[in-house]
Amino acid sequence: MTATDISHRSRFLAQGNVYLPHLAVIKKIVDETGDTKTFHLNFKDDKLQGEFTFNSGQFALFSVFGIGEAPFVISSSPTRSDHLEITVRRVGRVTNALHRLGVNAEVGFRGPYGNGFPLDLLSGKNLVFIAGGIGLSPLRSLIWNVIDNRDKYENIDIIYGVRTPADLCLKYDLESWNKDKTLDMVTTVDEGDESWIGRVGVVPAILEQVAPSAKNAVAIVCGPPIMIRFTFPVLEKLGFAPEQMLTTLEKRMKCGIGKCGRCNIGNLYVCRDGPVFTYAQIKQFISSEY
Ligand SMILES: Cc1cc2nc3c(=O)[nH]c(=O)nc-3n(C[C@H](O)[C@H](O)[C@H](O)COP(=O)(O)OP(=O)(O)OC[C@H]3O[C@@H](n4cnc5c(N)ncnc54)[C@H](O)[C@@H]3O)c2cc1C
Ligand code: FES
Repeated sequence: MTATDISHRSRFLAQGNVYLPHLAVIKKIVDETGDTKTFHLNFKDDKLQGEFTFNSGQFALFSVFGIGEAPFVISSSPTRSDHLEITVRRVGRVTNALHRLGVNAEVGFRGPYGNGFPLDLLSGKNLVFIAGGIGLSPLRSLIWNVIDNRDKYENIDIIYGVRTPADLCLKYDLESWNKDKTLDMVTTVDEGDESWIGRVGVVPAILEQVAPSAKNAVAIVCGPPIMIRFTFPVLEKLGFAPEQMLTTLEKRMKCGIGKCGRCNIGNLYVCRDGPVFTYAQIKQFISSEY
């Protein structure tokens, strides 16, 4: 870590109290699906906005004042740092309150936390991105990061699946990636409708059809646990070793910084040691869950 990194980090953990959030302002809200919105945010302090850095795959704790805090992955790419984006599915107290906020509302921000994706491991590799539903959100940060540094990576495959066409998130990104001749993208739905002309089938089945080569490749998988559970064995069948498979884990969190013990799996804390893990690591500690 360089002196500049340390000064950035200490500024971000500053104010003498790591639990005290910075203020961020909602600049734009995009309706993704019936229950999911993307929020564009800027720090209230322009200097912080200019200094802020993070890694794709890192998350932050966002607070709705008077309601509470919840962790969300930063879904925008660090290569496009004029603002931050989070994509949030409405499931409970904090996410409902966040969805009720409008443009210009202020939220709290603590972070960035967690390890993020290991860019050194991915450099020079064929990358296979496999996402389901809102699981595209953390991968999206990495996908744009990779596209913005295209010469550092080999082939890129993206397989994205949702239940129905109405559940497609980040359609504007899907359109861009579809047009991008430097990558191959397949979008699939479990159940089509009369408007759907793309593939129909669950993600693991489509992965088996696409059959990306495991040679010099890393697969990055993110989505609902059921999708992940059935995707890893297909990757193994295609020749991917557990060390060549990455995913991000979601556990309920409180502190976000490895202090409260809320998110532990064995002696690891998902907030501090993750949320990105290889399948080899996951196999070791939660064989019963995945
Ligand atoms: C590292 C990390 C990154 C995340 N990134 C995103 C993201 O980018 N976008 C997004 O929409 N969500 C993300 N989540 C999940 C998000 O944090 C939860 O949906 C949110 O905390 C729910 O808060 P709530 O107050 O609205 O729900 P609550 O009222 O607390 O709970 C509503 C329901 O959601 C379940 N729930 C709550 N938290 C979690 C959790 N962490 N994992 C699984 N189920 C949970 C509860 O069991 C309950 O059934 C992430 C979680 C983690 C740990
Ligand atoms: S959330 Fe407190 S230790 Fe992870």
